[in-house]
Amino acid sequence: ESIDSTQKLAKELANNDAEEGTLVVADEQTSGRGRLARQWSSPKGKGVWMSLVVKPNIPLIQAPQLTLLTAVAVAQAIEEVIEVKPQIKWPNDILLDGKKVTGILTEMQAESDRIHSIIIGIGINVNQSENDFLDELREIATSLCIQTGQVQSREQVLNAVLTKLERLYEVYCSEGFTPIKVLWESYAISVGKIITATTPQQKIVGEALGITDQGVLLMRDAQNVIHSIYSADIEL
Ligand code: BTN
Repeated sequence: ESIDSTQKLAKELANNDAEEGTLVVADEQTSGRGRLARQWSSPKGKGVWMSLVVKPNIPLIQAPQLTLLTAVAVAQAIEEVIEVKPQIKWPNDILLDGKKVTGILTEMQAESDRIHSIIIGIGINVNQSENDFLDELREIATSLCIQTGQVQSREQVLNAVLTKLERLYEVYCSEGFTPIKVLWESYAISVGKIITATTPQQKIVGEALGITDQGVLLMRDAQNVIHSIYSADIEL
């Protein structure tokens, strides 16, 4: 019903040998966490706040692929429920009408050569109205309800996300990342556009070319230099 963070509990369960597929879902989070140590607003009854434990048998370097796979699954689920195609902003924000409707946080527990578990945290804004968002979020965040003008069933959204996620995960385990990458690029907002990437080291302006199999974003700047972006905030 109420929890500090589903991510935290899922991590504890994974550390205690929870099975692959273990899912923590909450009606409310009191300390929801986002990427880069940001807060994630998770008001009661308004969204889908969930963390899933997976234990893929893949090398460490491929772990970011799971984040991209999750973004595709959530995009497909939203598209199915509200019949509007969302866009994915690298690496894993889902946008409707240019505003963020979902955030994804993947965290890995690993030894130097082996993944123990990956916790996939997903926060989907479902039934917030404009007033439910703090002033600073109102311009950049949205919900399925705001976009459609109708209250949406959180159960239906959760069900759709889990169904898509399971299907894509099976494809990934049997066929690898290539089919997932093609899907990811079909939802990507930035490919072919001029974007600004603020990395921990520098600001780069250039054309987004696509992603590599490792989920690295490739950008070409005005001097024709290709940059590999591992972590950044992207502005369009
Ligand atoms: C982001 O865009 O910064 C990622 C947001 C991830 C939020 C989800 S909500 C469920 C899970 N529990 C958390 O504390 N965070 C993730």
